[in-house]
Amino acid sequence: MSYVIQTKGLGKLFKKSAAVDRVDLNVEKGDIYGFIGQNGAGKTTTIRMLLNLTRPSCGTVELFGEKVTDSSIYRHLKKIGTIIETPGFYLNLTGEENLDIHRIMMDIPDKSSVDRAMNLVGLSEQKGKKTRQYSLGMKQRLGFARALLHDPELLILDEPTNGLDPQGIVEIRDMLINISKQGKTILISSHILAEVEKIISRVGILHNGKLLEESSREVFLKKCGHSIQYRVSDPVKAAGLIKGLVNQPDITVDGDLVILKITENDNSGKITKLLVENDIDVKESKLVQASLEDYFIKLTGGGIHV
Ligand SMILES: Nc1ncnc2c1ncn2[C@@H]1O[C@H](COP(=O)(O)OP(=O)(O)O)[C@@H](O)[C@H]1O
Ligand SMILES: [Mg+2]
Repeated sequence: MSYVIQTKGLGKLFKKSAAVDRVDLNVEKGDIYGFIGQNGAGKTTTIRMLLNLTRPSCGTVELFGEKVTDSSIYRHLKKIGTIIETPGFYLNLTGEENLDIHRIMMDIPDKSSVDRAMNLVGLSEQKGKKTRQYSLGMKQRLGFARALLHDPELLILDEPTNGLDPQGIVEIRDMLINISKQGKTILISSHILAEVEKIISRVGILHNGKLLEESSREVFLKKCGHSIQYRVSDPVKAAGLIKGLVNQPDITVDGDLVILKITENDNSGKITKLLVENDIDVKESKLVQASLEDYFIKLTGGGIHV
């Protein structure tokens, strides 16, 4: 597996309390990874450690398969575009001029990169306008253009939809899908799962500094949907047995859980009997009927709009 971001036991203490608590992140090449957690969960602190802006109290960060150190980070940053919090610009300069300054600072010889980036984020018409006259959504898009200017392989975006209206959020989502289609890897943090749920391929749920869950979108949605979950001693054997009983089952094995998506027929009684008869220890079987948000709230034990 080729990981673009991988952390092992990553932690950050502020005055002895853990803002980030031994987090193992695994972001694969081509992922749109949703890094989700309430305000104060530790998302920004984690992201700052990924970029070597804050030193970890413990653990390691690997980018593109190589450990991040004070000296390696410069090489990595050439391949990364970032938006952390609201991007700032010279307000008396145009969007185009702002990007051109960044181009020169980043040592990008190709002048047409500015036009290309403006196009990609749909700001071509506005490039001659002073950024003072840009709406919040336009400024946010200009931030994307700046992050994309050097054609990075990886985008790290810290709550890029913050403060945008629903239309602006949809626009950013569409833009991210476009960017992802170019083979880039994206990590996007948000405190609102519903805002990014439609586009992410993988999700990590952070709560009080701990990564409560990390899974593919498929597994995550199944956990959220109507399903029966069996916690068993031998999940692979159990899945095999269920496959023999249920017609065209939709089964996922995740750790010691076997998750069976519910179809019209309720076979739950038969299934439990079959598992037990085959010496499988069924520690738990439960019907899960939660929406995505319900599931998130259940995991984090509170509301999401904090
Ligand atoms: N520089 C700092 N000094 C002390 N505490 C901090 C500092 N930065 C963040 N924190 C604390 O760490 C926790 C996580 O914050 P943060 O990473 O900003 O969360 P998020 O981005 O998920 O909202 C919060 O409790 C916050 O108050
Ligand atoms: Mg934050």
